[in-house]
Amino acid sequence: MTGCRSPMWPRSAAEDDRKILGVAGMMPSWIMRGVWDFNWINVRKDVQGEGIGHALTEHRIREVLQRDGRAIHLMTRIPEFFEQWAFRVSRDYGGEGWKLMTLQLGPVVL
Ligand SMILES: CC(C)(COP(=O)(O)OP(=O)(O)OC[C@H]1O[C@@H](n2cnc3c(N)ncnc32)[C@H](O)[C@@H]1OP(=O)(O)O)[C@@H](O)C(=O)NCCC(=O)NCCS
Repeated sequence: MTGCRSPMWPRSAAEDDRKILGVAGMMPSWIMRGVWDFNWINVRKDVQGEGIGHALTEHRIREVLQRDGRAIHLMTRIPEFFEQWAFRVSRDYGGEGWKLMTLQLGPVVL
């Protein structure tokens, strides 16, 4: 991976020789100041398992910390991946296996 762009919206991209290898979307939530939504992370199939998803997630969490973010929410069907960063399941929606996960970075204040 030679680059990691970082616009907060719509997504951050890991690039290699100008080819996109993966994307990770993050945006401020409307429910509360300091709360962020991690919308989606997707790594190209042929380069999965090479650390790109890990790097993109770290990059996004770092950006939220730099902006004094206090909590990150996401929806996923693979909670094990996000537990690496201490995201915790706060709601299991059943059905297709979607779970709401939260990473608390500090106290939430208005
Ligand atoms: C999930 C995904 C983003 C992971 O990205 P990746 O680049 O393949 O993962 P990495 O190589 O960075 O793996 C980092 C760690 O996560 C683990 N991991 C990877 N995919 C995982 C999965 N599906 N479930 C649980 N753990 C996983 C790896 O074992 C690795 O752990 P290790 O460091 O102890 O070996 C990627 O496989 C993907 O795009 N999947 C399809 C889309 C998807 O399911 N997105 C998530 C929806 S919210």
